[in-house]
Amino acid sequence: MQSPDPHPSAAAAGQPGVPGPVRVIAVASGKGGVGKTSVSVNLAAAMVAAGQRTLLLDTDLGLANVDVMLGLAPRHTLADVFADRCELRDTVIQAPNGLMVVPAASGKRHMTELTPAQHVGLVHAFSQLDLDLDVMVVDNAAGIADGVLTFCQAAQDVIVVVCDEPASVTDAYALIKVLSRDRGVARVQVLANQVQDQREGRQLFDKLERVSSRFLDVTLNYLGAIPRDEWLRRAVQRQEPVVDAFPSAPSSVAFRDIARRSRQWQSPAGARGHVEFFLERLVAPARGAMA
Ligand SMILES: Nc1ncnc2c1ncn2[C@@H]1O[C@H](COP(=O)(O)OP(=O)(O)OP(=O)(O)O)[C@@H](O)[C@H]1O
Ligand SMILES: [Mg+2]
Repeated sequence: MQSPDPHPSAAAAGQPGVPGPVRVIAVASGKGGVGKTSVSVNLAAAMVAAGQRTLLLDTDLGLANVDVMLGLAPRHTLADVFADRCELRDTVIQAPNGLMVVPAASGKRHMTELTPAQHVGLVHAFSQLDLDLDVMVVDNAAGIADGVLTFCQAAQDVIVVVCDEPASVTDAYALIKVLSRDRGVARVQVLANQVQDQREGRQLFDKLERVSSRFLDVTLNYLGAIPRDEWLRRAVQRQEPVVDAFPSAPSSVAFRDIARRSRQWQSPAGARGHVEFFLERLVAPARGAMA
């Protein structure tokens, strides 16, 4: 299969009208309900507040809730793109804080059910997207389904969210294991969520790090911890990011700190770091499957 026109000139950052490098960060967890969407929404909102042009991509076609968390009413979703009902640019909505969002659709087909042709369709749609972006945050579905792994593999950085429950730690380990063994992911950022105190976050990381360093060839970085915070729950009810609704809440302070630190990550060697790069990697397994 022919790959889409790679737009080589787009790699030349700094030219007027030419998109610069885009940092793609995937957020995943293994276990459901640990806070991936909360992390994605607030990390993205904190990036916007720091002046970064940010797109939040919801890939959870099974149970999308980025739009719900942000109080958005999308006219078109990623599901419409796959069904050829619209182009990707029609799905981009701007949240009141300036964050750009590509919503998924609840109750629709899961990413794992998409055919390779539909992945390629997504590439075409993205390459038509004429947005000037600094960061793309990708919120993933729970689990270690093929679609989740593919999005993590395609991003330059993966944040694995973990909380203090045995299933969360074992599922995070399972995710890291398959990402490192099967998908060549060499570096993972670990973020502890809903912690009682800083020590709990560090202990969670140490647990994961001990077993990973023994059995896997992957570097784990400790990104930090988000406290369990009643203000975050209230913000979810108000359908706003906590960093915007309650900027001085403990979780908001932590999200801003994590956004600041993640802006300092070096791109992994070989990363070209723009949207086409993300998409080429995204469809590589699909192309292989069709060969
Ligand atoms: N730091 C936190 N403090 C308090 N509550 C939190 C925190 N993080 C998440 N929550 C609560 O947990 C709920 C589930 O979080 P969220 O939807 O972000 O998880 P998820 O991992 O995206 O779930 P899913 O696997 O279903 O996609 C949120 O609605 C929020 O109320
Ligand atoms: Mg979610």
